[in-house]
Amino acid sequence: MGGFKTLILLQLVYFCGCMDQLHILYEWKQLDFEFPTPEARMQAIESKSFIPENNIPMGIEIYEDRLFVTVPRWKSGVPASLNYINLKDNSTTSPKLIPYPSWAAHSIGMDGKPPEIVSPFRVRADRCGRLWVLDNGKMGNLEKNTTKFPPALIIYDLKNDNLIRKYVFPADQVKEDSGFANIAVEDTDCEKTYAYAGDVGKPGLIVYSWEKNESWRISHHYFHPDPLACDFSVKGFNFSWTDALFGLGLSAPNADNYSTLYFHPMASYDEFSVSTMYLRNASIAEANFGAFNVLGSRGPNAQSSVSFVDPKTGVLFYSLVNLNAVACWKTSNKEYLMKNQGRIYMNEVTMVYPTDIKVDYNDNLWILSNRMPVWMYGRLNPEEVNFRVFSAPVVDAISHTACDITPRSDIFDKFVNKIKNATNSVVAKIKPNSGTAISPFSILSVLFISWIISLTI
Ligand SMILES: *[C@@H]1O[C@H](CO)[C@@H](O)[C@H](O)[C@H]1NC(C)=O
Ligand SMILES: *[C@@H]1O[C@H](CO)[C@@H](O)[C@H](O)[C@H]1NC(C)=O
Ligand SMILES: *[C@@H]1O[C@H](CO)[C@@H](O)[C@H](O)[C@H]1NC(C)=O
Ligand SMILES: *[C@@H]1O[C@H](CO)[C@@H](O)[C@H](O)[C@H]1NC(C)=O
Ligand SMILES: *[C@@H]1O[C@H](CO)[C@@H](O)[C@H](O)[C@H]1NC(C)=O
Ligand SMILES: *[C@@H]1O[C@H](CO)[C@@H](O)[C@H](O)[C@H]1NC(C)=O
Ligand SMILES: *[C@@H]1O[C@H](CO)[C@@H](O)[C@H](O)[C@H]1NC(C)=O
Repeated sequence: MGGFKTLILLQLVYFCGCMDQLHILYEWKQLDFEFPTPEARMQAIESKSFIPENNIPMGIEIYEDRLFVTVPRWKSGVPASLNYINLKDNSTTSPKLIPYPSWAAHSIGMDGKPPEIVSPFRVRADRCGRLWVLDNGKMGNLEKNTTKFPPALIIYDLKNDNLIRKYVFPADQVKEDSGFANIAVEDTDCEKTYAYAGDVGKPGLIVYSWEKNESWRISHHYFHPDPLACDFSVKGFNFSWTDALFGLGLSAPNADNYSTLYFHPMASYDEFSVSTMYLRNASIAEANFGAFNVLGSRGPNAQSSVSFVDPKTGVLFYSLVNLNAVACWKTSNKEYLMKNQGRIYMNEVTMVYPTDIKVDYNDNLWILSNRMPVWMYGRLNPEEVNFRVFSAPVVDAISHTACDITPRSDIFDKFVNKIKNATNSVVAKIKPNSGTAISPFSILSVLFISWIISLTI
């Protein structure tokens, strides 16, 4: 029945047009840096302290006029591992990165003295005007020539860019295989702030108290990788990763003033949660392992790296690395089921390896994609765009998805009106004068069912 196919197609085109509402604000074929002079840049290239193809953007953060970009030192030739671009400068969509807080903070001493910032993957700007830099501390680990410095939290004052604190994780909290890739900051109280750093290498969570200037390490079996979820396939590259705790999304404070931490290991299909009440003290966490909840599964192939909760709408955003997509779930929804997950953006060219997701303080969603598996296991084509920064207001990004915050009935009414119109015109075309026409009602049901399907991934 040709009419049926037409209807499905019509419906998919119609509704898919409502999703994927993000805009690409910045894109790069290769990264470049704002060197003090063109000569300094040439010299850096000659001395191999700048090797353009070894630079890949990994994390982003947005604060006022700046977009921060981390560039981990996985390979040699990374001139600065934390940088920013000026959001007010609209002269180019491929801006050069400006080292933060200065070039000096990234220079390696002649005596091998490490730079102030070694190799951060992700950073977080809290609402109190502090930038929390989670420094993984390893250099050259992809060139089988790892230099290890202790991982640390480095905290800057965003008003004047001064270093306000450097906290090196105590040796007994860092394991042989530790890797610190992601951070969440609970800033409900600017003095009693807590930072949570996930260990992807050796399952664990380091919790840091700003007030006490102390940290402790929490273990839980939900931080472990799922052995049945370690196979990945991105752009024809198949690989196996046993990454542990990665996604960390903090809700707005609950009635008891503690937030909920939504978390998942990277090698996992499942999502978990825990009240931060149980993370404030390692022995309390251990005594209450039952306070950690399993929410449910995203389904096959749905491993996720980063995640982020928009505190205002309570929507949890997360990457789907095998699917070249970013999806969402409303935390107010009791059920973490596949059908309750919405698709924010999916694209096999532009969204290959979504690597960071943030919501800024003006309610905009930001996403960075970087094609990392291609960079790691193959080679990026320097003639193609490889890195992209997407953005859109949260309300636009979630509109017409399962995470839409418009009351359900409104969406339903709008939908029914649109369908009535579409149905009327289609019916008029395919059955101009037949008494046995498919009833508009049955077409409506087909459309409704496929609408439901289109909302799930
Ligand atoms: C760039 O920014 C300037 C100043 O903010 C503004 O006048 C100009 O219209 C902008 N250009 C574009 C292309 O948006
Ligand atoms: C390993 O790192 C050291 C110190 O950074 C450097 O001097 C050396 O050339 C590197 N070796 C290789 C094989 O890259
Ligand atoms: C925090 O603790 C670290 C070491 O544990 C110490 O080096 C640092 O000076 C302390 N900072 C403050 C502000 O107390
Ligand atoms: C990679 O994995 C995909 C999906 O699991 C599979 O279809 C494909 O055949 C694999 N390719 C190779 C080269 O192993
Ligand atoms: C939560 O914090 C607010 C503001 O600090 C305070 O007024 C309120 O009493 C706290 N609520 C609980 C349950 O502790
Ligand atoms: C953690 O909780 C235990 C048990 O309630 C308590 O004895 C201990 O003093 C607490 N530790 C810290 C650092 O607050
Ligand atoms: C449906 O069509 C009517 C008139 O034909 C129009 O007023 C209405 O806005 C349309 N509704 C939608 C949702 O497109």
